[in-house]
Amino acid sequence: MKRIKVMTVFGTRPEAIKMAPLVKLMKESGYIETTVCVTAQHREMLDQVLELFGIVPDYDLDIMRERQTLTGVTVRALEGLERVLDSVKPDALLVHGDTTTTFAGSLAGFYRHVRVGHVEAGLRTFDRYSPYPEEINRRLAGVLSDMHFAPTAGAKDNLMRENVPEKSIVVTGNTVIDALVQAVDSGYRFTQPPLKDMDFSSKRIILLTCHRRENIGGPMEEIFNAVRDITESYKDVEVVYPVHRNPAVLDTARSILEGKERIHLIEPLNYLPFANLMGRCFMVMTDSGGIQEEAPSLGKPVLVLREVTERPEAVQAGTVRLAGVKRANVVKAASELLEDEKLYNDMAHAVNPYGDGRASQRIVDALLYFFGINEKPPEDFCHVSGGV
Ligand code: UD1
Ligand code: UDP
Repeated sequence: MKRIKVMTVFGTRPEAIKMAPLVKLMKESGYIETTVCVTAQHREMLDQVLELFGIVPDYDLDIMRERQTLTGVTVRALEGLERVLDSVKPDALLVHGDTTTTFAGSLAGFYRHVRVGHVEAGLRTFDRYSPYPEEINRRLAGVLSDMHFAPTAGAKDNLMRENVPEKSIVVTGNTVIDALVQAVDSGYRFTQPPLKDMDFSSKRIILLTCHRRENIGGPMEEIFNAVRDITESYKDVEVVYPVHRNPAVLDTARSILEGKERIHLIEPLNYLPFANLMGRCFMVMTDSGGIQEEAPSLGKPVLVLREVTERPEAVQAGTVRLAGVKRANVVKAASELLEDEKLYNDMAHAVNPYGDGRASQRIVDALLYFFGINEKPPEDFCHVSGGV
């Protein structure tokens, strides 16, 4: 039987969460010989996910450095990937999303004449510097890729406007929802403080995450001051912030939020407790990409701490609002949700514009089609209303 040799490359926490269900299905497919190469652009935050999903990488480039630069990550990833590609000689290389690993992976594949498949292709803000450098990373990955796995019809439209051939695009849904449906469980019990003692019924828990490069510095100070204002005004509000390990983020978070009443700065959470915390909190405030996709499926209102988003579908569905990064605007957006029950209830309905839990299967089927094993491509993912 003909088997396709597929090498998957990822390096950060969100890429690992979103690639894990796909790696598992490829291994089970019988038609695909799977190799996993991690750049380890993230170390601890990547390892948490690898352990949870039981993925043991075949190659680990171990490139992370403290306060690494974009150039440093790119150069170390490219050099390492060249060696691995020369040894594995895959038929296809899969990258995910918009990190520097994504860009370096797709470029390394192109240099070695390997067919590149881009998972989560076609997201755009049309603002080169927001998110930075992700908007450019994903555009570059798009140019370098031969197969485009677009999560939504809107992402496919973006690619077609850039003259990507339609026959190379499949709308798959986002694999993040495949991972989420496996992780969230109404009977889940938190084991770590402060979550294990948290009163989710009489307190309103806001889950906060904030890490984007373009927010570091002034915008992050504005956001964190807004969070302080909110907890000072609403005594039944508690904020849980699993702080990203980037020292630049940690420094600002500590200087403004550490030791403040009802604000809990904690270590990055493993995916299981994090996903279940999302499921139980009152609302989410975040500048993350992936969390904008997950929280709507769980019926949680999301305030996005950015000026633009590449994920308009949940904004259109009414569960996500752009709060911006100015202290007054963030306070206003949060206060509205905390005070206006109707607004809250209108936003707190489950929608799943990003997936139905079967994105990885569609990607596997599409790969088999692109390599001539399946006769037809899979049916495109179509957004239906309701949560997963
Ligand atoms: C990266 C991605 C971003 C993604 C984010 C997910 C790029 C340019 N950025 O941003 O798109 O949203 O990951 O979280 O690809 N660190 C650790 N341990 C870890 C991870 C990070 O100590 O496990 C620290 C290191 O000092 C590192 C710094 O965080 O130098 C920044 O990591 P980096 O991957 O460059 O940027 P992120 O902000 O994490
Ligand atoms: N996440 C996690 N633990 C945390 C914070 C986030 O497991 O403490 C998960 C979250 O559920 C989502 C992903 O990490 O799947 C998002 O990662 P991040 O916000 O770092 O990156 P982005 O999505 O912005 O690229």
